Amino acid sequence: MARIFSGVKPTGHLTLGNYLGAIRRWAERDQHSAEALFCVVDLHALTVEHDPARVRRLSRQAATLLLAAGLDPDVCTVFVQSHVDEHTRLSYLLECTATDGEMRRMIQYKEKAARERARGGSVRLSLLTYPVLMAADILAYRAEEVPVGEDQAQHVELTRDLAVRFNQRYGPTFTVPRATHPAVAARVMDLQDPTSKMGKSHDATGGIVYLLDDPDVVRRKIMRAVTDSGRDVEYDRVARPGPANLLDVLAACGDGDPRELAGAYGSYGALKSDVADAVIELLRPVRERHAELSADPGQVDAVLKEGAARARAMARPVVDAAYDAVGLLPAG
Ligand code: TYM
Repeated sequence: MARIFSGVKPTGHLTLGNYLGAIRRWAERDQHSAEALFCVVDLHALTVEHDPARVRRLSRQAATLLLAAGLDPDVCTVFVQSHVDEHTRLSYLLECTATDGEMRRMIQYKEKAARERARGGSVRLSLLTYPVLMAADILAYRAEEVPVGEDQAQHVELTRDLAVRFNQRYGPTFTVPRATHPAVAARVMDLQDPTSKMGKSHDATGGIVYLLDDPDVVRRKIMRAVTDSGRDVEYDRVARPGPANLLDVLAACGDGDPRELAGAYGSYGALKSDVADAVIELLRPVRERHAELSADPGQVDAVLKEGAARARAMARPVVDAAYDAVGLLPAG
């Protein structure tokens, strides 16, 4: 059976971008179509300045939200990255496969490093090596498919390159994975700055819809979304990014086509109002289920424990094979 792996990083509260770009598909499609693993990749949250208590809280919240969004632990494996040592064991071998030039070319590294420096902070070495750990996350399970938003495409490309290079050097060890993206809303943009991605770790939160925002907050953020001075509603991602983003979100909520939807609106006010209604309805069951699950954190912890045991059993033989292939003496 095909394997699928994907993950979400607990650096902030999960957003509508995370949901439409990734999590909703994991629940609706991916978990049923393959042997699927979904991971709260907590080690990745340590690549930027972090507060330990917040990371712990956000990790549990992310796991709870994955279950609330419909991931079924009887059907797929849900776990926390740091509970399975194989990820970091493999990461080192992949650091010995990747080059520093390759790492420095990663767009997310360049952007995040620039942001850290602008804040007067220092850039952690792990921010540079992060994509290698991400490659290890995927390759440790011989995953064939990686369902992600568009912003992760370059990282999955790197993962493919590393898998091919490793296999060529040391013999067939890893499956070469491919990224899959949703047809619409693969890149949900910030409502206040529609030229940049809606990202959970951004400082200004007015343009970000969080999955756990109250419905009236969601409505306010959407009604205040930046559009433009145009009179008609038209779908053009380059020339008119604000309206296009709203149309993408509306289309994704109802499985429609953003271009066709554009024709149905005569004003931005009406469009925003429908987007707000659609998003609030889309998120309602997730919020409700999250509230139920949060009342019983022991249940979530039990799912994560069981998930880690399953994940470990899958990753261990693959990582052992990689250690053997590069010439390390078996531990016996
Ligand atoms: P992260 O935590 O930033 O995002 C989790 C998932 O949500 C998608 N996403 C978006 N999709 C559409 N529009 C947006 N505005 C938006 N923002 C986020 C992301 O593409 C992602 O699919 N490096 C990864 C986490 C990771 C991972 C992995 C993913 C670590 N190891 C292995 C897949 C496989 C990240 O930072 O995702």
